[in-house]
Amino acid sequence: MQTAQTQTVKSVDRILEFDLSQELSHGMLVSNLAYAVSAELGKDEAFCYQMALAGMLHDIGKLKLTGYINGQENDPLLIEELKYVRMHSTLGYEELKDQGYSDLVLQSILYHHENYDGSGYPSNLRGDSIPLGARILRVCDVYAALSSDRPYRKAFDVSTVIELMIDEIKNFDMEVFLAFQRVVHNNK
Ligand SMILES: [Fe+2]
Repeated sequence: MQTAQTQTVKSVDRILEFDLSQELSHGMLVSNLAYAVSAELGKDEAFCYQMALAGMLHDIGKLKLTGYINGQENDPLLIEELKYVRMHSTLGYEELKDQGYSDLVLQSILYHHENYDGSGYPSNLRGDSIPLGARILRVCDVYAALSSDRPYRKAFDVSTVIELMIDEIKNFDMEVFLAFQRVVHNNK
């Protein structure tokens, strides 16, 4: 029989199984897409470059998650997995904010899980109050995740990914999503 304790330990194990190579290839894909979508939106080279950087670094806060768990393994309330995973965008921002990165990069990372309808995290920002860079990352991040193999499923093909994203269109800025669709179709 599974106790709450063993379930808790399993959650911790899953967080500790941080797959660096998978995170890096995800970062590279998001980086390339963020550059291309920014260019499609008519942004200048400097903006596109900054978005490529933000794409590469957007999930860097996940590296910090294990540190927060150390020493707290016995408190089931503190190690609820979702809560910790949801901290990664803020942790990434905190990690990078004094290292000379532009506001565009930092704000894009901090808010890359905000949804256009206000249901995201960490601040429940809504619509255009979400920085544009974060709205771009949101679309590219979801696409990259769905179009890549995961330990528990194979990658979806491009048309299925687009269908799945349309089902969740409330999460995205429509102008960004349309630019993203043009990028994907032009590269087919
Ligand atoms: Fe993320």
